Amino acid sequence: DIKKGSLHPLTLTMNEAVSIFRNLGFEVALGPEMEDDWHNFGALNFPDNHPARDMQDTFYNKDYTLLRTHTSPVQIRTMLSQKNPIRMIAPGTVFRRDFDITHTPMFHQIEALVVDEADKISFANLKHVLVEFLQHMFGDVEVRFRPSFFPFTEPSAEVDISCVFCKGDGCRVCSQTGWLEVLGCGVVDENVFKAVGYENKSGYAFGLGIERFAMLIHNIGDLRSLFESDTRLLGQFK
Ligand code: FA5
Ligand code: MG
Repeated sequence: DIKKGSLHPLTLTMNEAVSIFRNLGFEVALGPEMEDDWHNFGALNFPDNHPARDMQDTFYNKDYTLLRTHTSPVQIRTMLSQKNPIRMIAPGTVFRRDFDITHTPMFHQIEALVVDEADKISFANLKHVLVEFLQHMFGDVEVRFRPSFFPFTEPSAEVDISCVFCKGDGCRVCSQTGWLEVLGCGVVDENVFKAVGYENKSGYAFGLGIERFAMLIHNIGDLRSLFESDTRLLGQFK
């Protein structure tokens, strides 16, 4: 008796998100999962020994290479290897020392980077693309932009979506806040352009967490269940 297989809910969610961005004119770029300090931190304007590096608990190798903690190093690789204008997304696996119901040590992000001549790209362009994307992905969910900080963007924001489990009342999935953080974004910092030798450019970038999207779309209350390979769970997604 041979049972028909099915795609993992994370693969389904990733494919869906990538296809929406392709329809919005983004091209797919890829980078290595094993990175060096310069691509993962230095070129992204994390100063040496600055506490900002503590924002992400990094897995280091003995030779000082590291497992990338986000897909943002692909921004650097793309700017160094491609001609402008740039309109790319980078889907991929990332790693952090993190473990609870909304955090796992391996997870997936999609990075986006748009670069063009000076003053052509603004926060308004970023907001437009994100709202468009989130509405395709979730229908009419509530979206909020919260001021935040990333070394590689200025200004920066984090985007939350109303919690689908409690409809905003507060529950254990959203830590009683009614909101779930799904992505970080901002206008590309001048120092990042300097690091790759760019002059007179403007751009925006964002990075979103695929597991959070899968949780919300498929009503999965504990992120860790996505990695337990239980076919009774996985078989429900076709
Ligand atoms: C970043 O990783 C930035 N690189 C995002 C970014 C890109 C900002 C470009 C500006 C410009 P942050 O650490 O907040 O930011 O992670 C982004 C998203 O990844 C979070 O919103 C969350 O959805 C998800 N995420 C973070 N840690 C985990 C984890 N351990 N498990 C699952 N998802 C996670
Ligand atoms: Mg965050």
